[in-house]
Amino acid sequence: MEFKASAANLLTIKVDSLILLTGSQLHNTAKLIDDSLNGAIQALIKSGDFSGKLASNCIFHTPDRASKRIILIGVDGASTTQKMIKAIESAALLLNKTPSAKALWIGDSLSDDIEWQASIMARSVQTSRYKYNGSSKPTKPSKLKSVTYWCVKKSQTTSATKGLVYGSAVGNGMNTARGLADLPANICTPNFLASQAKKLAKGQAKVTTSILKEADMKTLGMGSLLSVSAGSVEPGNLIVMSYQGAEKTTKPVVLVGKAVTFDTGGISLKAGRGMDEMKFDMCGGASVFGVINALIETQLHINVVGIVPAVENMPAGNATKPGDVVTSMSGQTIEVLNTDAEGRLILCDALTYAARFEPDTVIDIATLTGAVIGALGKLTAGLLSNDDELADQLLNGGTLSGDRAWRLPLWEEYDKQLKSNFADMANIGGEAGTITAACFLSRFTKDYKWAHLDIAGTAWHSGSAKGATGRPVPMLMQYLCTKAGH
Ligand code: BES
Ligand code: MN
Ligand code: ZN
Repeated sequence: MEFKASAANLLTIKVDSLILLTGSQLHNTAKLIDDSLNGAIQALIKSGDFSGKLASNCIFHTPDRASKRIILIGVDGASTTQKMIKAIESAALLLNKTPSAKALWIGDSLSDDIEWQASIMARSVQTSRYKYNGSSKPTKPSKLKSVTYWCVKKSQTTSATKGLVYGSAVGNGMNTARGLADLPANICTPNFLASQAKKLAKGQAKVTTSILKEADMKTLGMGSLLSVSAGSVEPGNLIVMSYQGAEKTTKPVVLVGKAVTFDTGGISLKAGRGMDEMKFDMCGGASVFGVINALIETQLHINVVGIVPAVENMPAGNATKPGDVVTSMSGQTIEVLNTDAEGRLILCDALTYAARFEPDTVIDIATLTGAVIGALGKLTAGLLSNDDELADQLLNGGTLSGDRAWRLPLWEEYDKQLKSNFADMANIGGEAGTITAACFLSRFTKDYKWAHLDIAGTAWHSGSAKGATGRPVPMLMQYLCTKAGH
């Protein structure tokens, strides 16, 4: 897919489709196009064929013009970032359904922020091509080959081009994450993820991958992580992907993504209904793959280390039992009261391991608690952090990209619920499950700035649209992009 920016005379650019985002009141460019068509758009509005309402649409053919087809997309009431994104996404989906190879995109009546709009457009075009096909290249072959983002002024094309490169990379990153997450757990095992990580690094000068096997983890004392994979015939892996886009001396942002390739709950077995969706319990790890992929495409000047603890949580004769006590890499002991609270058991060792990269910041991403869905629903990720500035930066990244989070408290009064009579801590608390889970993690993140994203609600859709969303790749990329000073 090729994205270009242009400020050429739009009435002469030859394309299969011209996408015009406009409300029912035509102004600026929409007016100009309407004039060139002798009032055809006004007529469609008058007849009611096109209402101009948010994300409504109307397609008509103009075979004797430079653009053979006009796709109108309504933007009336697009008063928030979320609504603007909705209009853009609907336009991209519709464009992909038409047999267009070349398209011209005109969005000047939607937003003045050229770079932002170009980026959301390119991202939406890429994600609209997503199709699960059981492979790691999950895009359907589409007729669409190039989209030109039209700018009113020539001077705007530089910003637009920047936005296009960035947005396309984010979209491809989301597709990478979705492709991995949608795979069934009999294919997407911890070893499969390790091989995908090696593939990602191949031929990339800035990326190196290393895999710690169970024996390596045993040597490091990762007793907590290993207690989760104990009952599975699939060996666990700790995947480390390092992207070096800045000088070696620049401290990295470390991303730690939970990848439980299937979560049965272990001996604390889950109920059967909907258990298939626990193949998505590796969405945090998948988002780290997505970010590394997007970094390769954008070549951002930043150092990022992605750590993905990958395990399968199964019941078995040799599985960890409720009441078992394990010793984490940090030396702290944990009483495993519930083997279904396994995410924190793998994350805590990965977070301890993260310290050896002398991180600037550590962010973990995990489908950690069902409780976050009770608190925030499926729209918003839970964010908990030991650093206010970092929390704000991530919240801002979410707002800008439309991939939002909301902060929950990490007060020590909650932490008391983790008290155990037989170890330094228990792996479950009582109330406020999302917060007590984060309190557990915070006991392993005292030495650096840290944030935790609970994406159990946002990482995938259930029901007829069942499938991974690719979130929070947009939020994380926005955070990294701002941090890198782009
Ligand atoms: N992977 C689940 C969290 C989850 C549950 C995500 C439902 C999406 C939907 C996690 O490992 C888990 O089982 N958490 C338990 C924790 C409990 C045992 C303290 C939960 O949320 O029920
Ligand atoms: Mn679980
Ligand atoms: Zn889980």
